[in-house]
Amino acid sequence: MSLPKKIFSLLFFMALVQFNFNALSQEQVVRLGTPISESQLEDFDLIISPDGDGLPAGSGTALQGKTIYETRCVACHAISGEGTSGNTRLVGGDMHSEGNPIRTVGSYWPYASTLFDFIRRAMPADSPKSLSNTEVYQVTAYVLYLNGIINQYAILNSETLTEINMPNKDGFIDRSQVQ
Ligand code: HEC
Repeated sequence: MSLPKKIFSLLFFMALVQFNFNALSQEQVVRLGTPISESQLEDFDLIISPDGDGLPAGSGTALQGKTIYETRCVACHAISGEGTSGNTRLVGGDMHSEGNPIRTVGSYWPYASTLFDFIRRAMPADSPKSLSNTEVYQVTAYVLYLNGIINQYAILNSETLTEINMPNKDGFIDRSQVQ
């Protein structure tokens, strides 16, 4: 091999090594993203316990919640909460039927605080977390009103919500102490 050819292949080889090294070091970069901020964390810290611990400030009545329900919920849950499919029914139902029980907020859910929690975190399904806390109180009141659990003027807030007796509250067995 002539000298210029030798120099050329040496340079070519070095370029190749450099190229692979670059590829390798790029692969080894650990992409951990950016640290989450306190305010972003607040969007996830939404847990409300059955005794109401974690309920935010705010209040609302079913009368106020009607408009929210009719604009944000009715497409999937229908005008009186009868639902548009098997799992979108919010009203009525029966836990004592001979066949499969029909579980709804009215027939099944033991705590009204869970209803607030669920709506705030997951509904409306096409735009979760888009309602303000006040709107969640209002629409929670409306769903309870549709179920005949409260009247349309009852004011829901962090205190009154936990005092509501849900129809099926005694329908569960407490197994929290079972080892
Ligand atoms: C785009 C459709 C859609 C919209 C709009 C919507 N939901 Fe839902 N919702 C669903 C579906 C689907 C489920 C069932 C989810 C599941 O089983 O995980 C559900 C479940 C629920 C449940 C629980 C029912 C149960 O017994 O398990 C509640 C309560 C509820 N929605 C309230 C609301 C409220 C209040 C609004 C309006 C603010 C709303 N939803 C808007 C689709 C929707």
